[in-house]
Amino acid sequence: MKPSKKLIEVALPLDAINKGCQEEKNPFLLGHPRSLHLWWARRPLAAARAVIFAQMVDDPSAYVDTLRADPKLKRKAETALKARLKLWEEARELARKAKGTNLAVPEPGPQPTLDEMLADIERQSLFRIIEDLVLWENTTNETVLQTARDEIWASWRRACAENADHPRAKELFDRKKLPAFHDPFAGGGALPLEAQRLGLESYSSDLNPVAVLINKAMIEIPPKFAGRPPVNPEARTEKSLIAREWKGAQGLAEDVRYYGQWMRDEAEKRIGHLYPKVEVTAEMVKVRPDLKPYVGRKITVIAWLWARTVKSPNPAFAKVDVPLASTFMLSTKAGKEAYVEPVIENGGYRFTVKVGKPRDAERAKNGTKSGSSGSSFLCLMSGTPMPFEYLRPEAKEGRMGARLMAIVAEGERGRVYLSPTPEMEAVALSAIPNDAPETEGSQGL
Ligand SMILES: C[S@@+](CC[C@H](N)C(=O)[O-])C[C@H]1O[C@@H](n2cnc3c(N)ncnc32)[C@H](O)[C@@H]1O
Repeated sequence: MKPSKKLIEVALPLDAINKGCQEEKNPFLLGHPRSLHLWWARRPLAAARAVIFAQMVDDPSAYVDTLRADPKLKRKAETALKARLKLWEEARELARKAKGTNLAVPEPGPQPTLDEMLADIERQSLFRIIEDLVLWENTTNETVLQTARDEIWASWRRACAENADHPRAKELFDRKKLPAFHDPFAGGGALPLEAQRLGLESYSSDLNPVAVLINKAMIEIPPKFAGRPPVNPEARTEKSLIAREWKGAQGLAEDVRYYGQWMRDEAEKRIGHLYPKVEVTAEMVKVRPDLKPYVGRKITVIAWLWARTVKSPNPAFAKVDVPLASTFMLSTKAGKEAYVEPVIENGGYRFTVKVGKPRDAERAKNGTKSGSSGSSFLCLMSGTPMPFEYLRPEAKEGRMGARLMAIVAEGERGRVYLSPTPEMEAVALSAIPNDAPETEGSQGL
């Protein structure tokens, strides 16, 4: 096989790629696969797109003969060469003069050539393709993508021509079929998705079935429905939807939206009562003035934070279910700190949520953990140590419970943390699953 040097081996417009990746970090970016499912170490799409493109296209130094045959390009290169030669000669002169003095002037290197200028100019135009490719708004810009695909095809056809005498040329260098792309550790699927976008047949695999599902949803299923209209009953009866053209996965997306909404509505009908909103009352505002903007409103809960409990090992509190809380901090964001403060009273305790920095930062950070260990705790009521050897049998015997520690609701500018209420705890405890697993469990320990 005759390998050609690829662009990625020579140079990349890193600043543009980094900027594109930075833009993608916006967590609310609409249309990003991340909004479907979070995957750790997911590569930015911009970087994946740029890197695959730069691996597929030849560096122009590999085809200067072709470039030389283009009279317009050649003229441009000759003009650039003149300017470059002038600089080079000046640098050489400077280096010559510096010889024998104590000035450290580097040698200018070999004399620039017309071929280098030709490759340079062409490389810059490949860079411009990458600069366009990495912009988030161009993710589905067909003109930009097609320009990139054309370059990939041009490089591939050159490779096929150069390897026409390879013994397996027919199979390996088919000028009508690009080589396929396979990412065996595909994870969130950034690389196979972008390879597919650039026109390659994409394959992905992963050890983790969740990653496999994400990849199926991103690169396997959508192409099967490319250009097809949606099939949901609304789309089949609505005239404007029947008449319109459905490009790419638009039809499938419409169905996913329709049936997603249907599932959400059905779920709300059946279990919505288990997820009540929180009404912010004037009473609550008395102790939490930060809640004033929400008074009289019902706000949506996005999470209920529970702590597992075990019976206190201290005989004086044997009836109290004490929490195993790995932290009491709810938010450590500067200016938005919130934490849980347990209040010991009437031979028991209750949790309250406070905003601002805790007075005892270390205690809030550690919850009821004992030191830095993740498996031994201290009894909230007495400080009695609860090592793993005490907790494990408690868990195995099914004596673990749970206490609601805090409520996280959706505020206007981010999360709002609220103290638990007995009503909220009661609602949660009222949900008795009728299909819970019957096998023995260790309750997480
Ligand atoms: C760093 S992630 C890949 C991230 C991916 N490039 C992206 O952009 O989302 C590495 C992946 O390798 C997978 N993996 C680890 N060991 C593996 C194995 N032996 N076979 C297949 N997949 C494996 C993991 O499940 C994980 O999804």
